[in-house]
Amino acid sequence: MNPEPKLSFPSLDGLPAEVRLPAPVDQREYLIGGEIRRWDGPSQEVLSPICRETPAGPVQHVIGSFPLFGEKETLAALDAAVAAYDNGRGAWPTMSVPARIAAMEGFVHRMIDRRAEIVLLLMWEIGKARSDSEKEFDRTVDYIRDTIDALKDLDRASSRFVIEQGIIAQIRRAPLGVVLSAGPFNYPLNETFTTLIPALIMGNTVVFKPPRLGVLLHRPLLEAFRDSFPPGVVNTVYGSGRQTMGPLMASGKINVLAFIGTSPAADALRKQHPQPHRLRCVLGLEAKNPAIILGDADLDLAVRECVMGALSFNGQRCTALKILFVHRPVANEFLDRLCRAVNSLKAGMPWDDGVGVTPLPEPGKPEKLRAMVDDAVRLGGRIVNDGGGASRGTFFLPAVVYPTSPDSRLYREEQFGPVVPVVPFEDIEDPIRYVAESNYGQQLSIFGSDPDAIAHLIDPLVNQVCRLNINSQCQRGPDKFPFTGRKDSAEGTLSVSDALRVFTIRTLVAAKANDINKRIITKTVRDHTSNFLSTDFIL
Ligand code: G3H
Repeated sequence: MNPEPKLSFPSLDGLPAEVRLPAPVDQREYLIGGEIRRWDGPSQEVLSPICRETPAGPVQHVIGSFPLFGEKETLAALDAAVAAYDNGRGAWPTMSVPARIAAMEGFVHRMIDRRAEIVLLLMWEIGKARSDSEKEFDRTVDYIRDTIDALKDLDRASSRFVIEQGIIAQIRRAPLGVVLSAGPFNYPLNETFTTLIPALIMGNTVVFKPPRLGVLLHRPLLEAFRDSFPPGVVNTVYGSGRQTMGPLMASGKINVLAFIGTSPAADALRKQHPQPHRLRCVLGLEAKNPAIILGDADLDLAVRECVMGALSFNGQRCTALKILFVHRPVANEFLDRLCRAVNSLKAGMPWDDGVGVTPLPEPGKPEKLRAMVDDAVRLGGRIVNDGGGASRGTFFLPAVVYPTSPDSRLYREEQFGPVVPVVPFEDIEDPIRYVAESNYGQQLSIFGSDPDAIAHLIDPLVNQVCRLNINSQCQRGPDKFPFTGRKDSAEGTLSVSDALRVFTIRTLVAAKANDINKRIITKTVRDHTSNFLSTDFIL
């Protein structure tokens, strides 16, 4: 392995204006109680994964800073959300569904105006390739629009009365209260908004903590949040989890924890809530999705899907394929094609055309990946692609490791980076057992061409994971499909429509069908004096 490959970081001179950060983004603003306030406390420097060359080697560019809240400011943001909810009496939770939809439409309109800035910051803050950054933005806009449509459908279905055993009732979904929404660095916009948006549109108020890597890209939206929703409905907090998330949970005033991160962190947060039974958790956690390549698989197709599945955004996806099991008779042929495909990925800057490998944003990540690979090599594995695992600065070239020992860290731990462990198997029971014994249960992929063999695998495996992909990589989308996991991989189900349920509770108004009640209900509906008790049909 070459420890100093020809990986270099370009000079920014001559960089096209549309991918150049005009100046460091020193964020001093935060949103609380409907006001954008100025922060004059301590701040956190933001280092880009993109480096500059210096005589001492690559050094990360400093691209800005953001406020580092302490407990006091964090709890002030919480108080603003609690006040806006006002025990369900606030303007937002009692607002009609069409009015909440109109507010969200106003927000998305304003958001679209900031697309270029947000895409630019996605590239610079987390090193995501330009086309993927654009996709992340556009997918998020589509998600918001689909959420609006899903709410219209839900509201239409609830805009009628039911009569059972002489009782008239109207059944709707009502908000839960104050939601703490905290997303991950790999999809800082999209995944954060897949909880923030449904939580909001259903009438909850929100304390929103952007991921620590991926803060600045939310700044262009602060005014849109302020202007689109009533004061206190969206409040932002920034800083370390210990200083912010801990006190929020310990306050007992958070009703829903929407968190995408690791299971130990989620468990620690949940435990801090003084009345955990009052807390609903919506969690997206670790995964170690396997691919199983059967002896009769179309190897070109399998390689194409495995490379995308394992290495899109450098493997930094919870849905990434993180271990490949290949039937031994085709292992050499598969590895050969896999290595060629992996080595054809172009390493470069996020704005380079056709780039497939970009610098990694997490501090110390190349060293962590190196330690996992070294451990697998010590246990009998080899890096089988030329130059794989070479690193410089924040770059780490994808490494295909074969054979990966069951005793190695790579076999069980989530690498969340550009390392592809491959394991040969003789007996299909081996990968099936792996899935059953795994701590994770998000998805898996099977590659093969015999329908009977695949059918035979479907039934035992669908009870271990929550999505089984046939001849296709693992992925979250389409966003209308349910996205969840078993064991340590998730809690709660997200999809455009499931998310509306997750952030609400079924609530009904019921009355014995006697004359006085019929008169009350008829007059209420006719005069539009309640937003809940209403037969208005959204068109
Ligand atoms: O990191 C987890 C994301 O939800 C994955 O989404 O499969 O669309 O890349 P994706």
